Amino acid sequence: MRNDPKMDPVVDRGAIVSSAGCGRRPPTALRGTVADPAAGTVRLSLHRSRTTDQGPVVADPAAVHARHVDSPFIRACRGLPHDTVPVWFMRQAGRALAEYRAIRADHDFEQVVQTPELAAEVTLQPVRRYGTDAAILFSDIVTPVQAMGLGVTIKPGVGPVVDEPIRTIADLERLRRFEPDVDAPFVLDTVSILVDELDVPLIGFAGAPFTVASYLVEGGPSRSYTRTKALMFGDELTWHRLMDRLAGITLASLRAQVERGASAVQLFDSWAGALNPYDYQRFVEPHSRRVFEELADLGVPRIHFGVNTGELLGRMAAAGADVVGVDWRTPLDVGRERIPEGVGFQGNLEPAVCLGSLDHVEARVRDVLARAGGRVDHVFNLGHGVLPPTDPAVLTHVVELVHREGRTDGTLAPGVAPLRPEVESPRPDADTGGTDEPPHGDGPRPAVGR
Ligand code: CP3
Repeated sequence: MRNDPKMDPVVDRGAIVSSAGCGRRPPTALRGTVADPAAGTVRLSLHRSRTTDQGPVVADPAAVHARHVDSPFIRACRGLPHDTVPVWFMRQAGRALAEYRAIRADHDFEQVVQTPELAAEVTLQPVRRYGTDAAILFSDIVTPVQAMGLGVTIKPGVGPVVDEPIRTIADLERLRRFEPDVDAPFVLDTVSILVDELDVPLIGFAGAPFTVASYLVEGGPSRSYTRTKALMFGDELTWHRLMDRLAGITLASLRAQVERGASAVQLFDSWAGALNPYDYQRFVEPHSRRVFEELADLGVPRIHFGVNTGELLGRMAAAGADVVGVDWRTPLDVGRERIPEGVGFQGNLEPAVCLGSLDHVEARVRDVLARAGGRVDHVFNLGHGVLPPTDPAVLTHVVELVHREGRTDGTLAPGVAPLRPEVESPRPDADTGGTDEPPHGDGPRPAVGR
């Protein structure tokens, strides 16, 4: 790789920057320089990580864990007293950032993931930009199965697609045991670079067995999960065998990330909301529980997230999570009531809100903080991932606002209040000149992509 001119660590592109040293300091204090992407060509220099002939320096995970044990993110995950509401964003790296697009202009997605210096750089980009309290490893939920040679490609604008879907018991033969350090050493080397450089905790992640199964069985993204459900309901034995193998892959991947120094893990069961609680409990929960249980000895916080999972929150906690992510459709206070005491909660600003006016963004951030009730075990996040057309400046503003107005002692800052529908909706007789106007301010209405 080091002989590949494309991998030269100093590249001139339409944006960014830097080397390392990332965390909760203001951007000016960082070793790198964040440039205005609109201002033209800026020197992009990837950090030069400390490496040996064997690859990056491997940190002692115990020392890394000790470094972050008192961070607001880790303490919130554990429900321990701390001062600032921690905030990070799912899909914080990626297409909303010009500096990410600059790298993607020269490298396809897989190349970025498989090149530790690049993957580390794009993991650091949003931390520098937004000042988030945690970084999330840049990779994908299908990276392990892709690395095992299952013929998975990530198609831009589509998502993961699979050459030959897995639908029969014979197909399971292709799902052998996953060996992270042999099959996907680049992921672990990325973790090593990051834990050496980050001032905030690194979140490792993996796809939950159900969500990964949905891609492998459908052959790509799906709206109805017809084939997945046909297998689940039609051949329960094969289904459980498939889930068992995928749980093994997920587990191996997460354990390896933590053993290299990731401070927490998030299990993405993004599409679990396609199931009712009974089917979730029967067909999915035992496998996700196994993942959580077999991570327990590592002692890092375990976060469990899915979309459209308002009815599943209790079960997702019961699967063994320390923190449950609440997607944006469920009011956070309602979600909180469905999660048992002793388990933390994460969320849940609607990502599309960040495409609207700043006034409305602020009101909605305060709404989330109010519904979180100043609880010590709240981790602020979006209720799903950052949307590509999001203006990064809005996310920076969200982080600042959460840090400024979030409370962790059960009180609310002045002005932090839940929105009430009767206040927010335009009255039918209000003089709005029509019914198509947004119910808030007259800020810009950016195009919604995707
Ligand atoms: O910043 C981060 O959150 C870390 C990196 C990350 C990516 N994918 C990078 C990525 C994480 C945590 C994921 C998880 C992931 N991948 C999930 C679970 C989260 C969720 O959204 O519910 C899912 C379902 C996937 C599968 C996947 N991979 C999809 C749906 C897509 C988008 C396809 C598209 O172009 O619309 C991908 C590709 C992908 N993964 C991108 C990124 C930044 C976009 C790649 C690009 O075009 O540059």
